[in-house]
Amino acid sequence: MFTNKTFLITGIADEHSLAMYAAKEIIKNGGKVVCTGLGISSFHDDLSDRAKEFLQKNFEDFKRSVHDSLGDSMVEILDVSIDQNIESFAQELAAKGIKLDGLLHAIAMDKTIRKKEVKPLIDVTIEEFCDTMNVSAYSLIRITHYLLKYKVLQNGASICSLSYIAAAKVTFHPYRNISIAKAALERITIELADELGRKHAIRVNAIRFSPYMGSKAGNATLKIEDVATSNKMSPLGNALPVDLAYEICHLFRPESRITGEIRHVDGGYHITG
Ligand SMILES: NC(=O)c1ccc[n+]([C@@H]2O[C@H](COP(=O)([O-])OP(=O)(O)OC[C@H]3O[C@@H](n4cnc5c(N)ncnc54)[C@H](O)[C@@H]3O)[C@@H](O)[C@H]2O)c1
Repeated sequence: MFTNKTFLITGIADEHSLAMYAAKEIIKNGGKVVCTGLGISSFHDDLSDRAKEFLQKNFEDFKRSVHDSLGDSMVEILDVSIDQNIESFAQELAAKGIKLDGLLHAIAMDKTIRKKEVKPLIDVTIEEFCDTMNVSAYSLIRITHYLLKYKVLQNGASICSLSYIAAAKVTFHPYRNISIAKAALERITIELADELGRKHAIRVNAIRFSPYMGSKAGNATLKIEDVATSNKMSPLGNALPVDLAYEICHLFRPESRITGEIRHVDGGYHITG
């Protein structure tokens, strides 16, 4: 299905990342992937020792897991909170003659959730609000902007991002600050679907996935009871990462006319009250 097709996979932290399942499925279907992860780039300055240590460990885990699970796939550092990093990454792909047939946005960050406790929205600072919005939503615009600017993203490409039901509904596990960023990410998906569909025949979709504790982000934010509650409420039980990977591949299929969709891969949780 993906012979001669290459996809950018963002958001791999380790082998348990949702993005990793998508990357494996793409390769299984004959495609190639370029993977990006957090690490120390030449654009980082004034990093504390703690921040350096965190980024270095993150990059090592990322590189090792890609090597173990995806063989010799290309790995690059990308911190989407630094605009020059996104631009230089796109320039590098262009210099290497890499053309992309799609990209997966699987990036989220919210410092107002600590030790599984969510800060009340009323106490969220402008920095916390804007940082979460920048990394978790606006970055989709910037990545796409630079990939188009340097002619890396091809006409007819497919873009997919990962969202959560909390973008639209207050659930048993209210996320507050990140929910607002997810709502923005979904609206960006729809606006880009219109803009890029007309200009470049590029498709843009988002998928709302079930709560999943296997990943670093999921484990840092969710409690076992949350996952159990949604599993019970969902007619088919919680969806698995591999279900998500199948749907991403479906949306990445060349020559489909699906765009501007906010899909659910959640075992039917969204139809419950
Ligand atoms: N785990 C869940 O329950 C769940 C459910 C629905 C949607 N999602 C979404 O799926 C996506 C992937 O999450 P995951 O569960 O696989 O967790 P994960 O921790 O494996 O992935 C989150 C990724 O975001 C990256 N990231 C954070 N800040 C970044 C920055 N400044 N620049 C670049 N990358 C940055 C991290 O390095 C990490 O790779 C996220 O968008 C998340 O909101 C997760």
